[in-house]
Amino acid sequence: MLQEQIPDRARISSDLVEPDRVRREVYTDPGIFELEMQRIHERVWIYCGHESQIPKAGDYYTVQLGRQPMLMVRSGGGKIHVLYNRCPHRGNMMCGDRKGNAGEFFRCTYHAWTFQHDGRLRSIPMMESGYAGTRFGKDNPDCSMKRAARVENYRGFVFASLASDGPSLQEFLGASKVAFDDMCDRAPEGEVEIVPNCFRVIQHSNWKIFLENQLDALHPSVTHQSTGRAAHEVEKMIAAKAKKGAAPLSYHMLSAFATVTIDKWDNFQTLNYPHGHCILTGYMGLRPQDPDTLAYDKIMIKKYGQKRFEEIVGVNIHHVLIYPGLSVQSPLQQLRAVRPLGVDRTLTEIWHFRLKGAPEAIYRRSLAYYNLVNSPSTLVNADDLENFWKCHQGLSSDGGDWVTFGRHLGRDIEKGGMVETAPNCGTSEAPMRNQMKAWAEYMRG
Ligand code: FES
Ligand SMILES: [Fe+2]
Repeated sequence: MLQEQIPDRARISSDLVEPDRVRREVYTDPGIFELEMQRIHERVWIYCGHESQIPKAGDYYTVQLGRQPMLMVRSGGGKIHVLYNRCPHRGNMMCGDRKGNAGEFFRCTYHAWTFQHDGRLRSIPMMESGYAGTRFGKDNPDCSMKRAARVENYRGFVFASLASDGPSLQEFLGASKVAFDDMCDRAPEGEVEIVPNCFRVIQHSNWKIFLENQLDALHPSVTHQSTGRAAHEVEKMIAAKAKKGAAPLSYHMLSAFATVTIDKWDNFQTLNYPHGHCILTGYMGLRPQDPDTLAYDKIMIKKYGQKRFEEIVGVNIHHVLIYPGLSVQSPLQQLRAVRPLGVDRTLTEIWHFRLKGAPEAIYRRSLAYYNLVNSPSTLVNADDLENFWKCHQGLSSDGGDWVTFGRHLGRDIEKGGMVETAPNCGTSEAPMRNQMKAWAEYMRG
């Protein structure tokens, strides 16, 4: 039945995706969604979480990879495993909580089969009398919890792939690994740690609509204009009242939505890489000179020396999109993990991190921005969410068959497998074209 709903490869390659436009069914067809889960989300490297989420042996965190409920768990030796959250006996979910500590081993709540942290069967009640002479027991791998086919960690960020073949994590990430380097290098201790809670937002729209928005440099000065104006008013008010001092830096970042007018966003640049990864440069290269920043600079220079320090804070990145499941804002130490729940339901988990060894004030500043942009009371994310929902509604209608990605088409610059937008083409829809190119390649299998 399902197979009948799933379009064949020819349709995916030629009927659904053209270089500058995509059929609306790509966002709304449940059969296509099932195929995406099989061929993309349950094959490629997907972000599970940060190793600091599970610091102690037995700590676990649940995570959804494609349609699969998984567990990220730390074993006694310190190794991190990613297991299917399923008991091999009768299929009971092993951990019902989102996170916790399993103790010395997992114990199923149904019939008390127990498992090591790496998923291997440890014991079955009355195993000898119950299973003597049967195929079930310790030596049968089917009696252990199944593991993700591959697990790798880059600078503390843990990824899993449910396919045993494919590129290594570093090959897959390619240039996009700058997201993690940029985040960690900005820490005096060279690493970050999780702030142990996240915003979880369920979007009533297809997962690709969210990803396409992340590097959409045309939308901020329109969608977020009202927020930018409000923040700018606060800045002006504080400046008028206080002779010295100014509004917090986070307000300045928001007021840029209004003060950086629509034409100026063309000054930015996008870099588009294989596998659908994209980078938006610009904007975050600002170097504030307030006392908190200067105190941080001093610590960094002491640690790394002036030259290396300049290299680190000179990395000019606004956003890195790691297709198909992660959007990272490294200069502000935050990331959004995308978990598709259905063709019109998408969970995003929005995490932020602390720069190890940096002054508390630097953390407080990025926390303020994190809350301003992402909290349930934010004006910023709320405006995006409304657009996502409205896009999905429109695409579900018969009002038109295509989504177009033609902006600045033909002005992209090919550079050894990478596509760079030309100068003054920052609002190009090249990132969307790049994502759909990768999508079609994955979907063709
Ligand atoms: S279902 Fe887990 S022990 Fe029976
Ligand atoms: Fe936005």
